[in-house]
Amino acid sequence: MIHRSHEDLATKNTKLTKVRSPKPFAFFVPFVAKSFVFFVTFVAKSFVVFVTFVATLLLLVFVARVDGIRQPVFARHAMVIAQQPADEAGLAVLRKGGNAVDAAIAVGFALNAVYPYAGALGGGGFMLVRMADGRTTFIDFREKAPGAASRGMYLDAAGNLTRDSVEGWRSSGVPGTVKGFALAHSKFAKLPWAADLAPAIDLASKGFTVSYGFAEQLKTSRSLARDPESTRIWLKGGAFYEAGDRMVLPDLARTLGRIAKNGPDEFYTGDTAAMLETQMQAHGGLITRTDLTAYAAVERTPLTGTYRNYTVIAAPPPSAGGIGLLQMLAMLEGSGYEKAGFGSAASIHYVAEVMRRYYADRNTYLGDPDFVTNPVTALLAPPYITQRRSSIDPERATPSKTLGPGLSASAEHAETTHYNIVDADGNAVAVTYTLNGGFGNGITVPGLGFLLNNEMDDFTSRPGSPNLFGLVQGEPNAILPGKRPLSSMAPSIVLRDNDLYMLIGGPGGSRIPTAVLQVFLNVVDFGMNPQEAVDAPRFHHQWLPDAISVERGFSPDAIALLKSRGHEVREEQGAVAAVVELLVKDKEWLQGAADGRRFGRAAGY
Ligand code: GLY
Repeated sequence: MIHRSHEDLATKNTKLTKVRSPKPFAFFVPFVAKSFVFFVTFVAKSFVVFVTFVATLLLLVFVARVDGIRQPVFARHAMVIAQQPADEAGLAVLRKGGNAVDAAIAVGFALNAVYPYAGALGGGGFMLVRMADGRTTFIDFREKAPGAASRGMYLDAAGNLTRDSVEGWRSSGVPGTVKGFALAHSKFAKLPWAADLAPAIDLASKGFTVSYGFAEQLKTSRSLARDPESTRIWLKGGAFYEAGDRMVLPDLARTLGRIAKNGPDEFYTGDTAAMLETQMQAHGGLITRTDLTAYAAVERTPLTGTYRNYTVIAAPPPSAGGIGLLQMLAMLEGSGYEKAGFGSAASIHYVAEVMRRYYADRNTYLGDPDFVTNPVTALLAPPYITQRRSSIDPERATPSKTLGPGLSASAEHAETTHYNIVDADGNAVAVTYTLNGGFGNGITVPGLGFLLNNEMDDFTSRPGSPNLFGLVQGEPNAILPGKRPLSSMAPSIVLRDNDLYMLIGGPGGSRIPTAVLQVFLNVVDFGMNPQEAVDAPRFHHQWLPDAISVERGFSPDAIALLKSRGHEVREEQGAVAAVVELLVKDKEWLQGAADGRRFGRAAGY
């Protein structure tokens, strides 16, 4: 049939041609016209085929790229990144009209119920605030050594270190969290104090579902098992809580309820203070009502530095973390280290050498600014940075024993926690707070329902001996009554062209500054998206021990090359301890990246 039709058509066309083209040019014109139409159609079709081909190729490349890389959580208005489900407490307060500071206080109290691993009612920390109008401050609510503390308090008669800075009632510094939150509240908050505590009181009194991660933390803690009250509170009739179980914390709910009703002084001069002192006295602890009454949180001026077109607002002493971040960035800027590429032996080597130099200084010079003079300006001075950078051999490791601090003159887990909040007005709050060890010293205060810190271990108990984090520290960080121990916590806020760009920080003791540094560099120098930057494997060097610890995920070839450059490389099975929570504000989008090394979550609207 088809064949016949074609024949019929040909015959018909021949007839038509004969009728309509009696002269040669009459044949020629339609022929040219037809050829032209054919040519144009051919070019058009080829173009469509070409465009489709290129688009398919691009799509394949894009899909391959997106498929292999986790994306951050996106939100338009506000975002909270915190250990879950405390993030919900922050969002609830934001939705009720609170600002980022209200939300930070709400999350900080809620963590005591759902993340007692680091919920620091019995501890302390740092809050870095940048309001949308540009006001920036750093609230220091780090614990203080009790009045009865003394330089040699953790040494035995023979001068050997005891475990008392880590275990038992004498390991606690005077808690600062409630005063810190109160100071932030008085300056910036929009909601009443009690409204910011309400979500935490609800969680503790009505109960919440135990997550898998929380259940695992409870099961694997050795410090909780040592304390009878912790065994009562954090076990369910002697058995471990399982994921999915409901946990209710009536003692904690009552303590939080009193703080909500009577105000922050309840913790320092009220019934709570009296109960804490009674328990301290009964168990040989040092903290008294006098210590509690005397405790004050203070505002400090944040440190500021630049890297390329970014302004980094960083934690001042008694954090050593901010100085570290700024010093390491300054040594890296202009070095060209990044040209070797992420994960290359050359770039890891260079960054590790920069880390080594910072820790040699950190451990030697820094302490509580209320007690010692920190050489902050000298440590960040461009000529000093140039001198330190020029001592780096790009091919060979510098043995730490040949590298001292530069000025003329830990086998540990991530027990701290960090959270970031941006509200719909653009106010930004980054908080890192801690009990020091996981569940602090493991002691729950009877009747009060919260755990105590063992922050006294962050002091130099004996010069030359490593602490819980393997830090070998110096005289400026020696123990004195009323003094704050040096910290590595580094809540940081980054501006790009003077606009809010990034909130970053994390737990992990001595490993915090190096982890924060690497995630920042992953975004700024290696072009990673925020989630990719957080997920990427990390490494750490802290001068002593003289070794690079590396997470899984680096190429064996790079590790072999690092060894050939003279580095001892310790390949760790788990995470290299520090856990980074990252919030990026890129134009109108908030992008949240919680770190899979813990149980954080980014949530927003
Ligand atoms: N307790 C850990 C730190 O402050 O660095």
